[in-house]
Amino acid sequence: MESVPDWRAVRTDDGSWTLAHPEHGETCHSTSGAWQQALERYARPCRLRERAQAGARELRLLDIGTGLGLNLAAALSELDGTGCALIADTFERDASVREAMLELVSVHGALDPRAEPFHARVRAALERGGDRSIRTHFGDARALVPALEPTARYDAVFLDPFSPRREPDLWTGEFLAAIAARMAPGAWLSTYTVSKPVRRALAAAGLAVLDGPAVGRKRAGTLARSALDGGTRRAEPL
Ligand SMILES: C[S@@+](CC[C@H](N)C(=O)[O-])C[C@H]1O[C@@H](n2cnc3c(N)ncnc32)[C@H](O)[C@@H]1O
Repeated sequence: MESVPDWRAVRTDDGSWTLAHPEHGETCHSTSGAWQQALERYARPCRLRERAQAGARELRLLDIGTGLGLNLAAALSELDGTGCALIADTFERDASVREAMLELVSVHGALDPRAEPFHARVRAALERGGDRSIRTHFGDARALVPALEPTARYDAVFLDPFSPRREPDLWTGEFLAAIAARMAPGAWLSTYTVSKPVRRALAAAGLAVLDGPAVGRKRAGTLARSALDGGTRRAEPL
């Protein structure tokens, strides 16, 4: 049996667990709070619940960096009780992160008790290789996203790779333009970085770019929205 690289379990300040990368050591979530970040950086700013309450019956999510699946759990939690279905396409190139997450859960019982009802559904989907709600894609997102079926469009994008400094691959103008091209009119993208080159690339791809909310110890992130009429528009100055 192949050995699983040594992801390190890290307990974050809101009590929830995440993992640190075996080589560069960056954590998959903010150490201020993994569950807090999943909800407040990703699921809420992308207005999933708000749109479900406004009548959406199905919302499509592009999830870049499946990791432990905690952001997916936050999306399910926001839609809980609304009657709106989540259809997520989630991308991960490193199978060992899933194994490390399963091991972490077997040792600690859950990544977080608040997340557990939703994360249990995510785990089941990841263990089965995906289901109708959570469609898993293993490999390099730079090749897989452009290869999605040509008509595929998303209402929300969780852009959660490791940092531009550690892993620049998923922050290139080319990849960000490929993501922007997949956003439905009025779709929201959220990410934790405030990197100026990333913001410039999102704006160059035709998205309106604005500050994301303060979350934990981070004063802002970045939100980007596609035009409501499906056209492109210049970013507001930040
Ligand atoms: C910050 S973690 C994501 C955490 C995740 N969103 C969660 O909720 O647990 C970043 C993830 O992106 C994955 N990744 C990095 N480069 C990738 C690539 N080119 N294609 C697909 N996944 C990639 C890493 O293996 C890692 O699991």
